Amino acid sequence: MRLVLLGAPGAGKGTQAKKLIEMVGIPQISTGDLLRAAVSEGTALGIEAKSFMDKGELVPDSVVLGMMKERLQDEDCKKGFILDGFPRNTAQAEALDAMLEELGMPLDSALSVEVPLEDLMKRLTGRRTCKECGQMYNVHFSAPATDDACDKCSGELYQRDDDQEATIQKRLEVYTQQTAPLIDYYSGKGILKTVSGTGNIDEIFANVTTTLGIS
Ligand code: AP5
Ligand code: MG
Ligand code: ZN
Repeated sequence: MRLVLLGAPGAGKGTQAKKLIEMVGIPQISTGDLLRAAVSEGTALGIEAKSFMDKGELVPDSVVLGMMKERLQDEDCKKGFILDGFPRNTAQAEALDAMLEELGMPLDSALSVEVPLEDLMKRLTGRRTCKECGQMYNVHFSAPATDDACDKCSGELYQRDDDQEATIQKRLEVYTQQTAPLIDYYSGKGILKTVSGTGNIDEIFANVTTTLGIS
């Protein structure tokens, strides 16, 4: 399976991708996670990316495309991949198509996870993530048993730097202007699927697997 997950910030791309990788055993490639790793390692790429991420803007295409070109050539991508948060605009989508054509592994589907914009602020301000294992929680919807520790591994929970109200607002605007047009892009290629991202996480996942024909 070679899949793009589309959806607004907070739609649940990461949440659903993690459940999919457990089920199908292919890598999740999140450009957001790769960029945050570069930021915390303090690499030159991370330092450049951070200034854009903190404002809720997209990191320049050249940075993201270079990173993805390398990642897609890794051995583990031969059995398939789930792209989470990439592509983010039409230029990235076109570049991705060209890269995958060169590698002889075109996309099977683009799955759009749809959530009304007004639900997203609460999801994002409430998000907490485990530093150790990456498990996600939400103080409003799926709180951990104790405030600052992961239920699974007791790791410390943190809040993302860009999950502040003003930055979230900007991310939602950027999504509407630059990323939402990709729904038409993939529809035009005949590979678009959609699923509602509202409600219970397990029920959404059941719809995701049915829609993808892997349940
Ligand atoms: P990125 O990391 O991709 O963030 P995003 O797109 O803003 O999406 P999120 O990760 O915030 O949301 P998600 O859909 O994964 O939701 P999640 O599952 O966590 O990008 C961050 C930044 O990096 C960008 O702003 C940009 O600067 C840069 N960047 C990244 N990729 C780039 C690219 N390709 N080009 C240029 N720049 C790039 O869920 C959210 C919360 O909701 C969690 O707390 C979760 O527990 C909860 N939740 C999930 N499902 C449900 C549900 N059904 N009901 C209730 N709560 C739920
Ligand atoms: Mg995410
Ligand atoms: Zn943990």
